[in-house]
Amino acid sequence: MGLKEDVLILAIESSCDETAASVVKNGREVLSNIISSQIDLHTLYGGVVPEIASRKHIEKINQVIEEALKEANVTLGEITAIAVTYGPGLVGALLVGVSAAKAISFAADKPLIGVHHIEGHISANYIENKQLEPPFACLVVSGGHTHLVVVKDYGEYEILGCTRDDAAGEAFDKVARAIGLGYPGGPKIDRLSKEGNPEAIPFPRAKVDGSSYDFSFSGLKSAVLNYLNSCEMKGIEINRADVAASFQKAVIDVLVEHALHAVKEYGFDKFAIAGGVASNSSLRAAFETECKKRNIEFYHPSPIFCTDNAAMIGAAGYYEYIKGTRSGYDLNAVPNLKLGEK
Ligand code: KG4
Ligand code: ZN
Repeated sequence: MGLKEDVLILAIESSCDETAASVVKNGREVLSNIISSQIDLHTLYGGVVPEIASRKHIEKINQVIEEALKEANVTLGEITAIAVTYGPGLVGALLVGVSAAKAISFAADKPLIGVHHIEGHISANYIENKQLEPPFACLVVSGGHTHLVVVKDYGEYEILGCTRDDAAGEAFDKVARAIGLGYPGGPKIDRLSKEGNPEAIPFPRAKVDGSSYDFSFSGLKSAVLNYLNSCEMKGIEINRADVAASFQKAVIDVLVEHALHAVKEYGFDKFAIAGGVASNSSLRAAFETECKKRNIEFYHPSPIFCTDNAAMIGAAGYYEYIKGTRSGYDLNAVPNLKLGEK
């Protein structure tokens, strides 16, 4: 009812193993959020198989987009612009979303906006926290990324630290596989940890020399594998719940320490988490407690907006649209796109 017209973004996400489309109104109101997950398919192989992911995206993409429009009760003609994830991610998977977005943009004569996947994850926080505005600090923890980011303004980021080796979610997935939980490991470790003792096994809290904001999880992963091997050799029965809980605690301790160190150094009073691992219940609880102690406002998306989805791309796409970001029909998939790069 304002003077300005509503901005309706049709958003598309296909960077990994979810084919997703969403309609988002004015950056913060999700009118539809359709996600077709391939998890069951990839579980057979213990992880995402890129070639299978691309093929599945092709099969699903049109249907998912149609459903998103239908559920939002919006026609393509009413859409303001098309936003699509163009990186980082699996090149074949990204290409499916990018091609679909370009085709729709051309056919319907709507602006096209390429969105960075991590910017999407961060922007997921805007959906349910209507009052959240930059600047704030954000920890992005997903299957492919572990980034500590300063959100200076909408679409303006400074990366303080990232992982030197495995991403946090990758470590969850690898440890889960080692203790026989299967893929994807994060939610399974989260669940099993509730039955275990997080202090049972003293796994290492890795520090990266010379950088208090960078992370390293490969040493922790090796420590878990060594522990499992040595138990096996000594004939000691493994308590999987204790391994899961102790591993999870080691990851969380490092994430909390580094993130809150940054929040303090930079003097932020707002802190957010994002990405698949941000749906971890113990991680949320730890940040909740620590932020409260320090009088910091803590934000996190609901689990459905933590793991890959297109609503987060619609939220990010809206702010890019407002800033005037437009992509040409030469928009391409960029598998290792850096945050802040155009
Ligand atoms: O953000 P996302 O869906 O995809 C990427 O952009 O990578 O994140 C997927 C990752 C997987 O590694 C998965 O194991 C992890 O998020 N994850 C979790 C939980 N739910 C998903 N890790 C820990 N605890 C969870 N509850
Ligand atoms: Zn993601």
